[in-house]
Amino acid sequence: MAEQPTSPMLLPLADGIVPQEVVARTEKRWLTAMTVVLILMMVVVVLTSTVGALHPASNVEVVQPLTLHLGGEFAESNLGTALEPDGSATVRLIAEQYDFVPHCVQVPVQTPVKFRLTSADVVHGFLLPNTNVNTMVVPGFVAEVRTQFRQVGEYNMPCHEFCGLGHHGMWTHVIVVDRDVFAGLGPFERTRCGHK
Ligand code: CUA
Repeated sequence: MAEQPTSPMLLPLADGIVPQEVVARTEKRWLTAMTVVLILMMVVVVLTSTVGALHPASNVEVVQPLTLHLGGEFAESNLGTALEPDGSATVRLIAEQYDFVPHCVQVPVQTPVKFRLTSADVVHGFLLPNTNVNTMVVPGFVAEVRTQFRQVGEYNMPCHEFCGLGHHGMWTHVIVVDRDVFAGLGPFERTRCGHK
């Protein structure tokens, strides 16, 4: 009778066990496929962020969420839309359970607009449908996104990050108006839309 090999590695494979070479070959194929998919995804991310002007959440700018109302950039008198000396507009908003403050802002059309937001409590989301504006609003940090509105109109501004029981009701508006109309607005209309 032939002598049995002592190492289990040398024993013939039982039925149904795939040989090591086949496993290695298959794994290499999957590895190649995964690498190709990863490269494709990277290309898509780079392309969409340049062509669509998407904003990766990259500006690490900290702020103290407990004292927003006491002073500094997000004090109540600074909220809403402000015109910069270069003609662009900056909109400052606070997201909190369950509203954006101010509840409505007006911005001029065909003007670079920079939104600066922070949260007073939990993580919220800030989205303007059909624009490149889409960011999370994290307490302790300032979220900054830039855009430019091509047409006048009204944009809904839903919170799109679950933030508690009232999340579904956390909506507000951005009203885009002609530049001449905007220039004629007083601070109350710019920061509160007057009637809203
Ligand atoms: Cu705020 Cu959801």
